[in-house]
Amino acid sequence: MANFAKIFASRAQNVLQTAGRQPQVAARFSRSVSSGSNWEFIKTDVTGEKKNVGRDHTESSQGTECPLQRPHEGISTALQQFSKDKSIAAIVLTGSEKAFAAGADIKEMVGNTYSQCIQGNFLNDWVEVARTQKPIIAAVNGYALGGGCELAMMCDIIYAGDKAKFGQPEIALGTIPGAGGTQRLTRVVGKSKAMEMCLTGNMISAQEAEKLGLASKVVPADQLLAEAIKLAEKIGTHSSLIVQLCKESVNTAYETTLQEGLKFERRTFHATFSTADRKEGMTAFAEKRPANFTNE
Ligand code: CAA
Repeated sequence: MANFAKIFASRAQNVLQTAGRQPQVAARFSRSVSSGSNWEFIKTDVTGEKKNVGRDHTESSQGTECPLQRPHEGISTALQQFSKDKSIAAIVLTGSEKAFAAGADIKEMVGNTYSQCIQGNFLNDWVEVARTQKPIIAAVNGYALGGGCELAMMCDIIYAGDKAKFGQPEIALGTIPGAGGTQRLTRVVGKSKAMEMCLTGNMISAQEAEKLGLASKVVPADQLLAEAIKLAEKIGTHSSLIVQLCKESVNTAYETTLQEGLKFERRTFHATFSTADRKEGMTAFAEKRPANFTNE
């Protein structure tokens, strides 16, 4: 697996949480290089007030449970599985209190060559995160640096703990961001700020990230996970079919011109009139009752 697999090295104890029902073993993953942990499995189970949020956690070889450690293979596999699972409405991706993710494993990259990067298509594995059709919420506590910041930006919504720090420090390593840092960041915060962050390697605070629109909400660190789950649950009350169409439409804003995007949005809006859930949503409003969506 490419070095980017180590993006969650050291401090990143990543947890995938899902709005869903069925407990399942999502994927097996290899050990973190510097965590020294024994965690071997990513598992998903059910949590949340309405018991409709599935929580991923890890299980050690000793049988104890703890938050997931940097699974690269695990995340890609879990995302693929969640995409197929109709009971999953939304996904929460998080880390430890110290770090969401500190970036690709620098020590492992030291000896890499240009030809290895080209031939191994280094960093390409992560396109899976941005391709996921279901909403992904990044719950960022602590550091989101380099590939960690890029991973957060591949998600759909970023909630930040009040001590979170975002940055693209690759310049100090003699390289540049390679998984969207110069592209997604620029689109979100604008050229001047993106340039400042990428050229200096300086970090920004959670509060600044919110001000810039990089994060949509800042909450006390110890409430971050609960808030992210609450958000996933709220998304999960809507039609997952329409949520998917809506996500696709918002993402189109990043991929095309305004005119093309508006055309796409209008046609998608029209397309919702062919769904049972559009009919149910409007009928329920008119009848002053909660909608009973069937995702059809
Ligand atoms: N790769 C490898 N090891 C890392 C690491 C990384 N990205 N980040 C931290 N570590 C290791 C440290 O080397 C240290 O290991 P030892 O205990 O063996 O010495 C351990 O994690 C703890 O780190 P610190 O002692 O530095 O802890 P700190 O609290 O003082 O600082 C930090 C934390 C600010 C995250 C700091 O470690 C740091 O700046 N890390 C590097 C961040 C970085 O440059 N990320 C970009 C990587 S390149 C990339 O991601 C490219 C891309 O676009 C995909």
